[in-house]
Amino acid sequence: MKRFGNLNVCSLLLTLSMLCFIARSQLRTDFYSPSCPNVFKIVRREVQRAMMNEMRIAASLLRLQFHDCFVNGCDGSIFLDGDDSEKLAFPNRNSARGFEVVDTIKSAVESACSGIVSCADILTIATRDSVLLSGGPNWKVLLGRRDGMVANQSGANSNLAGPTETIQSILTKFASVGLNLTDVVSLSGAHTIGSSRCGVFNTRFFNFSGSGAPDSRIEDSMLSDIQNTCPTDGDGNKTVPLDRNSVDLFDNQYYKNLLNGQGLFASDQSLATGNETLTATTRTIVELYSNQNQRFLDDFVKSMIKMANISPLTGTDGEIRKNCRTVNS
Ligand code: HEM
Ligand SMILES: *[C@@H]1O[C@H](CO)[C@@H](O)[C@H](O)[C@H]1NC(C)=O
Ligand SMILES: *[C@@H]1O[C@H](CO)[C@@H](O)[C@H](O)[C@H]1NC(C)=O
Ligand SMILES: *[C@@H]1O[C@H](CO)[C@@H](O)[C@H](O)[C@H]1NC(C)=O
Ligand SMILES: *[C@@H]1O[C@H](CO)[C@@H](O)[C@H](O)[C@H]1NC(C)=O
Ligand SMILES: *[C@@H]1O[C@H](CO)[C@@H](O)[C@H](O)[C@H]1NC(C)=O
Repeated sequence: MKRFGNLNVCSLLLTLSMLCFIARSQLRTDFYSPSCPNVFKIVRREVQRAMMNEMRIAASLLRLQFHDCFVNGCDGSIFLDGDDSEKLAFPNRNSARGFEVVDTIKSAVESACSGIVSCADILTIATRDSVLLSGGPNWKVLLGRRDGMVANQSGANSNLAGPTETIQSILTKFASVGLNLTDVVSLSGAHTIGSSRCGVFNTRFFNFSGSGAPDSRIEDSMLSDIQNTCPTDGDGNKTVPLDRNSVDLFDNQYYKNLLNGQGLFASDQSLATGNETLTATTRTIVELYSNQNQRFLDDFVKSMIKMANISPLTGTDGEIRKNCRTVNS
């Protein structure tokens, strides 16, 4: 009897700890069904409204999720204001945008269900809606993330890649959050929407500081176009489309551009052409996606789900912020 009792206690403990493990580690699609059933409707409506005002906001929100998830996981840390904010890190300063729209979505969600939905989850839903409303794929998002208590500016500076980095260097940063080379190529397809400031990339279009010549991989018409639009002595804040042939549409044109020498950043172009060792492998994937739009969309969704699963805070970790810009008092 005693033995059985112990066994039962043991199996009860085992079951409990497994439940705890599941609750801690697993996000769910129906996390807010009981507590905030209208959250999807509200976020969709607000993203739609913001895109009617400015199509580009879809791209800006998508990029925010990338920049949030690569720094301390998908914990809404990018939204925190302050001197140590991630907003002021080099990859984000004067660049990351969409914070006011996130505030608006958060207020609308708070009005319907106060203190329930995290800023990290709001961004995950808004990002999916942004892609969908740009003509891209739909997918079910996993939810239940909680918001972090700290921003990490140095983490943002070190974990996010720059437009002149090698694929190897970018892959190393992706690998440290559990993403692989396929994810690098599929997620780079996010550059099918949105814009970049001239100052970020224009030196590769000129014989800049005696660099010798513009990057020889650049296609002729794009070269003269960008030279006219983005002179190195012009306004570095002026913006141009990342995907010059289909700016606002979420499709595989980005990969077709790469095969035509029309990548905007060196880091984009190197996925298809150039002398880097990894280019042989990434080019095969670029060719696949350029030929099969659906394959790109399917892989993009898989990689987005992987990215949105980076180190979420769950259970009783973190908090549900009332205001995305500050931790609760
Ligand atoms: C692979 C390495 C990547 C590099 C080096 C890179 C670099 C950049 C740069 C330099 C900009 C323009 C910044 C500016 O104008 O100030 C940009 C914009 C953008 N990036 Fe990336 N990116 C990368 C990956 C990603 C990923 C993984 C996503 C999302 C899944 C993404 C989504 C975007 C979007 C949508 C924009 C346009 C934002 C807007 O118009 O507001 N990027 N990226
Ligand atoms: C900031 O990010 C870096 C790089 O990911 C990490 O090593 C560090 O522990 C983080 N710091 C805080 C305070 O979260
Ligand atoms: C990357 O990971 C996915 C699964 O998440 C897998 O299907 C794919 O083959 C991997 N790619 C590489 C290059 O390892
Ligand atoms: C690039 O500029 C340097 C001076 O900065 C000059 O010596 C060189 O001839 C130029 N190269 C080309 C191809 O124009
Ligand atoms: C771009 O805009 C920011 C913020 O308005 C400003 O601080 C910066 O000087 C501008 N940069 C250029 C190159 O004009
Ligand atoms: C590789 O190509 C880049 C231009 O895309 C060039 O600047 C660099 O010198 C090349 N490196 C080697 C080792 O050929």
